[in-house]
Amino acid sequence: MDLHIVKDQAEGGRVGFQVFKAALDDGAKVLGLATGSSPITIYNELAGSQLDFSQLTSVNLDEYVGLKADHPQSYHYFMQQNLFNAKPFAHSYVPDGSNLDEAAATSQYDQIIADNPIDLQLLGLGQNGHIGFNEPGTDPESTTHKVTLTESTIAANARFFENEDDVPRYAYSMGIGSILKAKQILIVAYGEAKASAVAAMIEGPVTPDVPASYLQTHPRVTVILDAAAASQL
Ligand code: GLP
Repeated sequence: MDLHIVKDQAEGGRVGFQVFKAALDDGAKVLGLATGSSPITIYNELAGSQLDFSQLTSVNLDEYVGLKADHPQSYHYFMQQNLFNAKPFAHSYVPDGSNLDEAAATSQYDQIIADNPIDLQLLGLGQNGHIGFNEPGTDPESTTHKVTLTESTIAANARFFENEDDVPRYAYSMGIGSILKAKQILIVAYGEAKASAVAAMIEGPVTPDVPASYLQTHPRVTVILDAAAASQL
């Protein structure tokens, strides 16, 4: 893993931007995107840049089940606000959380990923070591699937909702297997609350208990951390 320890999230945005720029310079056509607070500074840098995404495709990691695309807490909406309004792509895909037919929603998304192999996948890291919404225990070969969110993830994401009861209990997520097929991966994590997950991801055994530990098996991973997130390494 190529590890960068940065001063703060703003610097992480600039370092992450350079990873995206280099991938585009190398001919990347499909970008795998992520939500959460950690990628926001990278999106700010991308949104304010000269980079042109109008011929590219984006494929997002996950979406809450039961939220329509225009719900302010949906990941569709997040992407629109944080990147797509400023930088439209030729095609942007996010799992369809409004489709309650699990088999149809997940198989359609697997087809989208198969048709659009991901050149660079951006990831955040859950406090429990999840990537996308692949919670501990997820099969490392998993493809897109419906996830029951853990209590810790519901609690961690409650800050975005009026109260914890409003947080959806299910999500559609790309699987660990889908994520590992990306040619290159960039994962970003900031703050003390991520420190133990970061240490387990980088130095711990490769185990289903820590989905991010499977990144150790991928040949091309860049990690951006601040000092607090790196403090248990
Ligand atoms: C959610 C998302 C993940 C994200 C994680 C961490 O659970 N599904 O993709 O990585 O939150 O978010 P944050 O960056 O806000 O800490």
